[in-house]
Amino acid sequence: MASVSLIDGASPMTADAIVVATVSTGTGVALADGAAGVDAALDGALLPALRAVDATGRADEVVKIPTLGRSATPLVVAAGLGPGQPGTLDPEAVRRAVGAALRGLKSAGRVVVAIGAGTDPHLVAAIAEGALLGGYRFTKYKSTAKPNALRRVDIAVSEPAQADARAAVRRARVIAEAVNNTRDLVNTPANDLNPVTFAEYAREQGEAAGLTVEVLDERALRRGRFGGILAVGGGSHTPPRLVRLSYAPARARGHAALVGKGITFDTGGLDLKNAGMGEMKADMAGAAAVIEATLAAARLKLPVAVTATVPMAENAVSGSSYRPSDIIMLRDGRTVEIDNTDAEGRLILADAILRACEDSPDFLIDTATLTGGQVVALGNGTSGVMGTDAFRDRVVALGSAVGESLWPMPLEPRLRTRLDSPVADIVNLPTDRSASMLIGGTFLKDFVPAGLDWAHIDIAGPAFLKSASGYNGEGGTGVIVRTILACLADLAANAASNAAANAAGG
Ligand code: BES
Ligand code: ZN
Ligand code: MN
Repeated sequence: MASVSLIDGASPMTADAIVVATVSTGTGVALADGAAGVDAALDGALLPALRAVDATGRADEVVKIPTLGRSATPLVVAAGLGPGQPGTLDPEAVRRAVGAALRGLKSAGRVVVAIGAGTDPHLVAAIAEGALLGGYRFTKYKSTAKPNALRRVDIAVSEPAQADARAAVRRARVIAEAVNNTRDLVNTPANDLNPVTFAEYAREQGEAAGLTVEVLDERALRRGRFGGILAVGGGSHTPPRLVRLSYAPARARGHAALVGKGITFDTGGLDLKNAGMGEMKADMAGAAAVIEATLAAARLKLPVAVTATVPMAENAVSGSSYRPSDIIMLRDGRTVEIDNTDAEGRLILADAILRACEDSPDFLIDTATLTGGQVVALGNGTSGVMGTDAFRDRVVALGSAVGESLWPMPLEPRLRTRLDSPVADIVNLPTDRSASMLIGGTFLKDFVPAGLDWAHIDIAGPAFLKSASGYNGEGGTGVIVRTILACLADLAANAASNAAANAAGG
């Protein structure tokens, strides 16, 4: 990954490309803050050039203007922020614009970003993250791929030595690395990433980061009565795993439990999918996100304990696949009737949630590519969040503040009757498919202890894109890593006041 530095925006800047921002106004395209110096170096030719190529300044617009020898920098890239006034910069709009600009550069090694960040650490972080996320390429399987050309990103600011801005750059690099690692895992196809190799990756990375790592193999899963993970993983040539990564700093101010769905490929099982199967290599995006968020929490030295409990299985078809009408037993002895083997995520998650809650954490966040209903309801831009109402809303607010789009969804208690089974304690899928995102959350709720702050984030749509936009290319997005890290940082900052509020509230 490229290095990121702060440079003085008032001094002359040279690079392979310089990125500026534009806004769309009632009177057409305008230059955003930070572009003035670049325009001046081109003797005021920038805005006329943008008008000449019909630039509008709309979001996701990227216009390349060659400088044709007028400057030592051969290329100016103007990235649109959308409607707005010069002088007001929204960090997520900046992150997306810078990301789109960097996504469009193939050979630039050194890039300057001149978007009036002043010394605002939020904007500096947004620029750094946008550049590093937009600079991501997945080329592991291209036999003739050249290494990523991007080596260095310089962010023009008013005071390059300012401590908060420099700290923001260091944090942004760790966060972007976690998101890009998540993308690599999601993009890796299931012939290479299976429960065994995925667990091995988690072990290696966890040990390198100084975490405590525990990997339960199929024997240990049987001893531990993880009947959901064993049933779902039983049809695959590659046996299931449960990975536990624990980051426990000396003066932890709280303990967060994370759980993520790690289905390395979802064929549907015997209820074989008849559409959309190719995307199901991404059905482990929740697992990848919680693993990388835990590693990043350690790299950031956040003063909170974090335990990721990650079930990994391949939902495959064979003579040993679990069947519709099977009744399985989960870790705590509860039984589940299998109505449909394609509703597999909730089964491995229930076992993992039960295990995670045995540690008595302060809160639980689980995330999963759980339901097609999430995609129907919210699309691929916005994740659906369920759980206990106050904590759910907090997760939505914290994630939105770091630029991920989330929306609260209701877990109406009456929905539970739809999961009543005539033969077992619960059924994995009702015949009526309405509100299927909420039914997924309602199933999981049964396994979360009453009173625990809990959020379930369905990322089925946002985890994997068919077309690029902003800082996301086609494929895995690494979504929800930033939200989880924001929640962990919030726990670190507010553990004392949270404890007081809980005590006051009884
Ligand atoms: N992994 C899928 C959910 C999914 C759908 C993720 C689309 C990403 C994109 C999940 O295991 C699944 O198969 N859900 C089905 C359940 C089925 C039995 C109706 C669904 O929600 O459509
Ligand atoms: Zn699935
Ligand atoms: Mn499925």
